[in-house]
Amino acid sequence: MLSKRDKLYQAAEMNILRCPVCGGDLTRQGDDFACAQRHRVNVNRKGCLNFLSSPVDSCYDAALFQARRRVFAAGCYQPVADAIEAMLPEGTHCLLDAGCGDGWYLNALLEKHADWQGAGVDISRDAIFQATDQPCTALWCVGDLRKLPFRDGAFTAVLDVLTPANYEEFRRVLKPDGLLMKVYPGSEYLREIRAARGMEPYAEGQVEAYLHEKATVVEARRVTVRHRVTPEVWRDFVWMTPLNQDLSDEEKEALAQRPAETVTVDLHIAAVKL
Ligand SMILES: C[S@@+](CC[C@H](N)C(=O)[O-])C[C@H]1O[C@@H](n2cnc3c(N)ncnc32)[C@H](O)[C@@H]1O
Ligand SMILES: [Zn+2]
Repeated sequence: MLSKRDKLYQAAEMNILRCPVCGGDLTRQGDDFACAQRHRVNVNRKGCLNFLSSPVDSCYDAALFQARRRVFAAGCYQPVADAIEAMLPEGTHCLLDAGCGDGWYLNALLEKHADWQGAGVDISRDAIFQATDQPCTALWCVGDLRKLPFRDGAFTAVLDVLTPANYEEFRRVLKPDGLLMKVYPGSEYLREIRAARGMEPYAEGQVEAYLHEKATVVEARRVTVRHRVTPEVWRDFVWMTPLNQDLSDEEKEALAQRPAETVTVDLHIAAVKL
């Protein structure tokens, strides 16, 4: 079995990295990566690359990503991954998972398609460290989607799942006929958790309005599934959603102790030409 570092080197053979300092091509030089001007980016012991000059304080911590991983393992988001896959054009893909979190979506797609390639980028180190545990071979990077460390036209599709977007950067790294797969909440998303907190349903419309104004929506789908959940899965949903990041650990635990019988996953998926 390949080590995490070897998996990174293998994924880096795609030659899609860009120097964060001068914008030149970044290629493997011994154990690490460097550009012609000798700006170096080191490979972390976890088998990922770090493009941030200093760590960023993220509300997305290890506990959140561990709970997220269990919710994914329970299959609650599989219909979303299936819809993304069905909406991608036929053929092989080189995917960027932007704001990939623990890399679940990218892994689901790469594990299914041995001839596809991909990279995942997230500003949270905790997220990328967990992503390197995924079985797939991908280029995992700690980085900021406001300045992506990838060459122009590197990807056939960018996945942007429940993550902030930078449409200009997405356009730059996409091939001319590439697609953005934008996933954003529908009004029913996590309604049980919102109700338990006395919150109104998600207000829809803003993302959609932006996409229709600035881009071409090629296809749009909506995945709505009301999952029956055990108290354990309810607890994981409480801990995995950034919705509850304003709560203390004690408050999250109190919410976890008042399980509802279902949790609704309601997400819009838009395939967009930028
Ligand atoms: C709600 S999570 C979604 C994660 C993943 N796409 C998923 O669906 O499981 C949002 C993610 O966006 C990342 N993020 C937020 N701002 C970012 C930025 N400027 N650059 C890169 N990642 C960012 C967070 O660290 C977090 O992992
Ligand atoms: Zn450089």
